[in-house]
Amino acid sequence: MNFPVGNQEFFHKNQFIHDFRQASPYIHHLNGKTLVLAISSHVLVSDKLAALAADILLLTSLGMRLVIIHGCSQFIQAIAGRNTAISIDENPITDENALELVKQASGIARFNLEATLSMIPTQVMEHSAPNVRIAGGNFLRAKPLGVINGIDMGYSGCVRKVDAAAIEERLAHNQLVLISPIGHSLSGQSYRLQVNEVAQAVAEAIRAEKLIFLGTQHGLLDEKQQTISELNCIEIRQLLARNITDKRQTELLQTAARVLEHGVQRVHVVSGLQDGSLLQELFTREGSGTAMAKAPFMRIRRAENKDIGEILQLIAPLEAAGILLPRDSEYMENHIHEFSVLEQDCYVYGCVALHVYPKDNAGELACLIVSPNARARGYGELLLAHVIKQAQQLQLQTLFALSTHTGDWFVERGFTSATLEQLPPKRQQQYTSNKRQSKIFCRQL
Ligand SMILES: CC(C)(COP(=O)(O)OP(=O)(O)OC[C@H]1O[C@@H](n2cnc3c(N)ncnc32)[C@H](O)[C@@H]1OP(=O)(O)O)[C@@H](O)C(=O)NCCC(=O)NCCS
Repeated sequence: MNFPVGNQEFFHKNQFIHDFRQASPYIHHLNGKTLVLAISSHVLVSDKLAALAADILLLTSLGMRLVIIHGCSQFIQAIAGRNTAISIDENPITDENALELVKQASGIARFNLEATLSMIPTQVMEHSAPNVRIAGGNFLRAKPLGVINGIDMGYSGCVRKVDAAAIEERLAHNQLVLISPIGHSLSGQSYRLQVNEVAQAVAEAIRAEKLIFLGTQHGLLDEKQQTISELNCIEIRQLLARNITDKRQTELLQTAARVLEHGVQRVHVVSGLQDGSLLQELFTREGSGTAMAKAPFMRIRRAENKDIGEILQLIAPLEAAGILLPRDSEYMENHIHEFSVLEQDCYVYGCVALHVYPKDNAGELACLIVSPNARARGYGELLLAHVIKQAQQLQLQTLFALSTHTGDWFVERGFTSATLEQLPPKRQQQYTSNKRQSKIFCRQL
């Protein structure tokens, strides 16, 4: 759409205000949280690295504690291509020469990344540039993979132990921890490790909030090659059982399923090549790649005072349209214990209240709202089921609802038309005094 110049400025300003406000709950939530970023070497060799590094520095200045695991296969390829014809990326066996290549490649990857993270992003003034200290060290204890199916895997190893305390100490001193895919054994031998495995072991050991894979794809793909925006553990296992994903995607799904079962809250797969993808994934409702969580992202919980603002925002347009009764913040503060909210990620997408009339063994379902951008996903039905369960737990016998516009919705869900006399006497008085002439529906529990 083309806006006249003045309007464009207005549009951009408003867009900025909207986006900034939308980001604020995420910024607040992630302050002080630990994020493990596994960065593919494809990203490290690309010209997009500087932009990603600037965004990483931004995360640290917003109070996030970061551990970065870097890949090195592209650097190995570059060196091997120049010196010999060894392609180590697909070869799980690491001989002495290959181990030397891994060490060289890791060194180059690491120094390049350190250098890029030491740059002052162009949008930041020199005197206010974030001064991030990068910590490295022997955080990983490794052991050899040994002989598998009669084949000696040489210096290919696996993680034996992560020194979580040492990583924690660096993070507590506001340092960014950078880990290479190489570990050392108790005898002082170095072993080549898989980036995924290191990321998984580190994220679990330090109980990271998030493990984020930054690669070449926008996220995980479904059968139609569309990006999957969200998955929970059940869906991950279903996807794995269907055996439709390629090797890389299968590995990511397996890693995600495992870490989510071991205390990591979220796993994300995001493009490291698309400018701003990481910020979009972390700070917008829509995200940019695939986000995975143990349980479904949506939950219904009791409302708290902190939800009042969002509930009032849901009510406001319906109140203006005469669909719902006006409710102000004082009313909400006094009745918040009667409300439940449907929350997805950090946002409230719906609410419902149960007013109880104990003398009459009855309850009223009120203020059932689903945000317009989340309708027809079954959320209304879930909120109704939630209230029915609450009412049954309180051993109420009747649930009624009053509505001016949504009668059919209730009837299709087991309610029948009722008369004024069927309402509890106290509610009858209110009904007569507010003159809204709402239709009355009731359902036996
Ligand atoms: C009523 C409401 C809560 C339903 O939320 P929802 O999450 O979209 O509901 P569900 O996904 O469970 O159900 C969607 C179905 O209800 C239908 N529906 C939505 N509003 C309806 C209405 N006013 N009358 C009849 N059916 C309606 C949709 O068309 C859809 O039908 P379909 O599945 O055949 O396409 C939501 O539309 C809303 O917030 N409305 C405004 C507030 C309101 O009227 N609240 C009730 C009075 S307290």
